[in-house]
Amino acid sequence: MTSRSQLVLGIDIGGSGIKGAPVDLTTGEFAAERIRIATPKKATPKACADVVAKIAEKFSDQFGNEPIGIALPAPVVHGTVTMMANLHSSWEGVNAEQLFTERLGRKTVLVNDADAAGLAEVYFGAAKGHPGLVIMTTLGTGIGTALIMNGVLVPNTELGHIEINGHDAETKASAHAKANEHLSYKRWSKRLQKYYRRLEKYFWPDLFVVGGGVSRSHEKFLPLLELSTPIVPATLFNRAGIVGAAIAASDQIPS
Ligand code: BGC
Repeated sequence: MTSRSQLVLGIDIGGSGIKGAPVDLTTGEFAAERIRIATPKKATPKACADVVAKIAEKFSDQFGNEPIGIALPAPVVHGTVTMMANLHSSWEGVNAEQLFTERLGRKTVLVNDADAAGLAEVYFGAAKGHPGLVIMTTLGTGIGTALIMNGVLVPNTELGHIEINGHDAETKASAHAKANEHLSYKRWSKRLQKYYRRLEKYFWPDLFVVGGGVSRSHEKFLPLLELSTPIVPATLFNRAGIVGAAIAASDQIPS
């Protein structure tokens, strides 16, 4: 991180809600109560940008001239959304960073939602100060991943989509798959076991951090996993996307 402004607006665009709050980057805490607005039914870039503009407007007096950070459930390569699994497909190929910057009238920085969550856990949460390679995984509608080596993010890893037994892993091992197929924690953990073993085999990380809403019930499934790598629950829960988006935006501020 090159420079840290104290208050940076973080926004998290999810499948059901768009949430935002000014984040104090010295503590990782929200400086004001978070605002949540339902994600538009047709969640196109323009429709989501209108909602983000409303949130930014509400907090306009609570953050300075720094860029706004926005987390998105998709890979973002130099501002362009390259693939979209869980929002409207019209995001694909769009330079959404430019679109948001124009709509909001100020610089915005887009970041993948799992990358944001990983940054938040490394700076303020379960992986704080942890040396070596940390792999953050978010178990939700999909599986998001972030690879962070000694505090430096390797963005857009998309390891939720690795193929296991002929299937896209997230379609079998996400929290959504668990709910959809009414799997018990025991049965679901067998799928997670395969998934994390595979990640271990490819990356040999120093730590796995498990986020997503289901990580609140971590005691029901993490103890069932047999891995060589320590695996711990995330601690920022639904704050992670917003906090991580703010970290990513602050990273863009030249020192
Ligand atoms: C997307 C990722 C995202 C993850 C969690 C996956 O389907 O491809 O970009 O991080 O879901 O939202």
